[in-house]
Amino acid sequence: MNLKLRLNLIITILLLLIMLIGGSFTIKNARTNIQAEIASTAILAVHMLNAEIANLKTSDQPMIKSGAIFKLKTLNNIRHLKIDFFDVSGNLLDSNRAHSNQDKTPPPDWFIHSMDTVTDELPVNRQPVYVASQYLGELVITPDISYEIIEEWEDTKGILILLGIFFLVVNLLVYFSVSMALRPINNILVALTDLEAGNLAARLPKFTLPELSKISDKFNVMANTLQSSIESNHSLTQQLIRLQEDERKNLAQELHDEIGQHLTAIHLDASAIKSAKNIASAQESANAIEQVVRRMMEIVHTMLQRLRPNGLDELGLDSALGELTSTWLERQPQIKLDLHISGDFLNIDEAILISVYRLVQECLTNIARYANAKQLTISVIKENNIITMSIHDDGIGFDTTIKPKGFGLAGMKERVEGLAGRFELQTAINEGVTITIELPCTKKG
Ligand SMILES: Nc1ncnc2c1ncn2[C@@H]1O[C@H](COP(=O)(O)OP(=O)(O)O)[C@@H](O)[C@H]1O
Ligand SMILES: [Mg+2]
Repeated sequence: MNLKLRLNLIITILLLLIMLIGGSFTIKNARTNIQAEIASTAILAVHMLNAEIANLKTSDQPMIKSGAIFKLKTLNNIRHLKIDFFDVSGNLLDSNRAHSNQDKTPPPDWFIHSMDTVTDELPVNRQPVYVASQYLGELVITPDISYEIIEEWEDTKGILILLGIFFLVVNLLVYFSVSMALRPINNILVALTDLEAGNLAARLPKFTLPELSKISDKFNVMANTLQSSIESNHSLTQQLIRLQEDERKNLAQELHDEIGQHLTAIHLDASAIKSAKNIASAQESANAIEQVVRRMMEIVHTMLQRLRPNGLDELGLDSALGELTSTWLERQPQIKLDLHISGDFLNIDEAILISVYRLVQECLTNIARYANAKQLTISVIKENNIITMSIHDDGIGFDTTIKPKGFGLAGMKERVEGLAGRFELQTAINEGVTITIELPCTKKG
């Protein structure tokens, strides 16, 4: 059952309960009132009729016999009592209920039932009529609440109609105000479905209800974050593909230019040896081959170094970082480096070690390119299975609010977070740059 119907049901049950309690109190009060009223009227009527009987004379007998003596018909406005006069043989001679006054609609049975026990507690009064010691009949005074019930019913009917209207209005008001209040839920559902379907531009409008307005604010912030992170993921992937292609192109070019050229030289020298007239010219060509091969080995070494950090496997991270920084320092003689490495890096997963190496390498590239630094401090410490790296330069720093064009820092962050680590960059103009990285260690697989 939806919220609107549920609320309406609760309100209806509550109102019915209130009505039931209120109604039973009203009926109880009405009963007590009617009882008191009828009892007092009965006493008065009995008293007056007794006085009437006491005044009767023998000469009145014919009038009594015809039933007209008490003129009961004129008492038809005594509404709470039915007064009948019966003769000796029990025939009804006169009554104040000769003609019916019930021109109003009769109350429903349940209402009559709730009231009619009133008369059970009131006695029927029988007054024998004697004239000169002769019994002429009896007056029977019966409490009669039918009029009162009709009147009470008329009042109650009014209240019931009013309550019914109240019921209807309250329920309609609740239904419409809840419908109005919940209308934004539809917008939220549409926006969520849009987002689910990949429409990252889906946003929610500002709602008037404060609770829902908070939801729309949070949703929009979340959608913004999602959109920008997906967009930067796309650019990262594109950048990655471009880099890979560049790397392949460079390798192909180097293979073609350097190796190809040297191979041609070797080929020529080998042909020269084959057709050499004397040992001296063969030796000369062999020497040339030796030189070219040495040159080629250097080229292959540099290419391999670029493809995969040298010494990481055989010598370990300390030596690899040592070699990386010292080669770098040769090209940055103005910078003083403070390198601090501690901890046991032997049994760590290779992916982590390569990452540490690449992260330092990217920092060095940026420092060489942009920092204009004098002092550089690098520390790589392994403690409690966590590698904490800190790379600090005292260069010009930069403004982090400006979105960078490059992907170096974004790639570093991505790499660290991909390994369940933490990446933090602190910088401001002229305050240098400090990069702090924490990487959890996984053992060699
Ligand atoms: N150590 C640093 N000192 C000063 N500026 C830096 C430093 N490192 C990065 N930057 C700034 O941050 C920008 C983004 O760097 P990066 O993400 O590595 O991209 P790229 O190197 O391709 O420009 C750089 O263009 C530079 O302005
Ligand atoms: Mg860079």
